[in-house]
Amino acid sequence: MNTPCPTGIQLTALDPRFREDPYPVLAELRKREPVHHDEQLGRYFFTRHDDVAEILRDPDYWSDPRKGREGGFARGYLGRGDEEPRLLMMDDPGHRRIRNLISDPFRPRAVEGWRDRVRAVVNDTIAALGDGEFDLIEAVADSIPTIVIADKLGIDPARHAEFKAWSAAALKVAFSPINDPEDVKQAEAAFAALRETFLSVIESRRRAPAADLVSDLVRAEDGGDRLTDDEIAAQCELLLLAGNVTTSDLIGNAVAALLRHPEQLQKLRARPELLANAVEEVLRYDTPVTDTGRIANRDVEIGGVKNAQGESLTASLAAANRDPEVYPEPDRFDIERADTHHQAFGGGRHYCLGSHLARVEAQETLAALLARFPRLEWVEGGSEYAANPSLRGFAKLRIRGEGPAARV
Ligand code: HEM
Repeated sequence: MNTPCPTGIQLTALDPRFREDPYPVLAELRKREPVHHDEQLGRYFFTRHDDVAEILRDPDYWSDPRKGREGGFARGYLGRGDEEPRLLMMDDPGHRRIRNLISDPFRPRAVEGWRDRVRAVVNDTIAALGDGEFDLIEAVADSIPTIVIADKLGIDPARHAEFKAWSAAALKVAFSPINDPEDVKQAEAAFAALRETFLSVIESRRRAPAADLVSDLVRAEDGGDRLTDDEIAAQCELLLLAGNVTTSDLIGNAVAALLRHPEQLQKLRARPELLANAVEEVLRYDTPVTDTGRIANRDVEIGGVKNAQGESLTASLAAANRDPEVYPEPDRFDIERADTHHQAFGGGRHYCLGSHLARVEAQETLAALLARFPRLEWVEGGSEYAANPSLRGFAKLRIRGEGPAARV
């Protein structure tokens, strides 16, 4: 084959072909150049399952973008540089310290304690839907994760819409190699507004603790160590940003996969006990966070290719989850797949803190949607993917639902 390998922007949702369907692009790259030197964006791009696992699990690689080489992806596009660091871009000992202090409320058992509250939020949202056509993203998927996390953080419910708008503005530029100056200005304003809001909530919880996450973080103590107000605010911002669009995308991708495979939808209706496995299969089959990264902390060889210290290593989770060496018929969506292990939540010490919460939200939303609408259909020409680099999900997903009056 003489055509050049897909590279740079072609490996992001800014490119229309990748945005529409990244999987053929990633499969071609995995076949032709599984360790791809992306000169355009200054990084190495990994598409094999085992290389991705090796990168994510190496405890020594860096995540702080300021440690990346000059001109490389991490330093150039991810490091805003000057502010209080957030977990995803921190290294030890700071990472371990903060992660230990904020982990408890996100452990599966603690999150199961939120399930009823998640169900109530979901039911309120689904009960507002009438029969007929609607945009699943606008009416359902967008709002549920923001309400749940804002609720847990202890934010006034009247401010949810504001939070959603700030988090969308901040995320629009967070992982993007190309940014419009106007978008950057809006993201900066959003971060400033979030910081101010969180600092005032923290102050009020220091005076009068409540049953919420900000109060937990104010109280959190690990061997006499405590978080400062700025540290708490920075992690609250990350929780809001990391848990928001990602979970909306999971819900949208799940509904799309089921409607595009009506036999799987029918199977799920007949056997609701498959729900948890179906959500895992969606995470594998249509991965909401397409890639994550590390920085080589030393000269290394991965997948037979040498990488110098400071090099950005982009791990394509979307490609790894469809590696034919690991998954039989990787492009087949099968809610009964026996081995649905996947790397959709990353791996190693940065493994997604909110993975269990995301699962609970997706499971509850799918269950309520199927119960509300005995008939759900795809609307031709009614969907559009979002152009957020590193994320895969719908900006718009019109579907038609019909059935008896709300039973939820
Ligand atoms: C379907 C939904 C979600 C997906 C696909 C997802 C995916 C990811 C991925 C890929 C990473 C990076 C892991 C790595 O580099 O190894 C990550 C990190 C993180 N996620 Fe999630 N996430 C989701 C939902 C959530 C939710 C609901 C929350 C919290 C409310 C959350 C909080 C975090 C945090 C705090 C980190 C940084 C952890 C660290 O650096 O130690 N995520 N997530």
